[in-house]
Amino acid sequence: MPRLSIKRSLIVFGLLLLAVIAAGIAYDWIDDRRDISVHAAAITGGNPDRGHALFIEYGCGSCHGLKHVRKATGTVGPPLDGIAIRAIVAGKLNNSPENLERWIRDPQAVTPGTAMPDLNVGARDARDITAFLYTRAE
Ligand code: HEC
Repeated sequence: MPRLSIKRSLIVFGLLLLAVIAAGIAYDWIDDRRDISVHAAAITGGNPDRGHALFIEYGCGSCHGLKHVRKATGTVGPPLDGIAIRAIVAGKLNNSPENLERWIRDPQAVTPGTAMPDLNVGARDARDITAFLYTRAE
């Protein structure tokens, strides 16, 4: 066997090792995301994945910034990053799934004249959007 092949197999081994480490890190990251999602679904009774899609569909991001959400770059309302661990939402409500749903469904009833319009979000949609927002702790 030529000497070069030992060197080559060391390189291959090194690359394999790196691949295994990278896969481990990726798996951990995905597993964490899954835990967060399962937890958000359990507290709200909603479906975070569906809520994510609805958030985009209702155009919430035209007024609210939210990292890692397509087109959520609005600056009319406050950014929603970290909303899951906020103590108070909309300046006056204790942060609970019920209150968040109530706000999303009927902001004008909670704060008449607020710049957030009533978007006719149904009960199930509001629950799923709330579940999605509860995955955003940062
Ligand atoms: C036309 C702009 C607009 C749209 C569209 C809009 N919002 Fe808002 N939103 C606001 C404004 C302005 C506020 C701040 C209102 C206040 O505190 O009185 C707000 C507040 C909020 C809050 C409370 C934030 C905090 O920091 O306490 C949440 C949660 C929220 N909106 C979710 C949504 C969701 C979900 C949608 C889509 C279904 C949506 N908003 C669509 C303008 C908008």
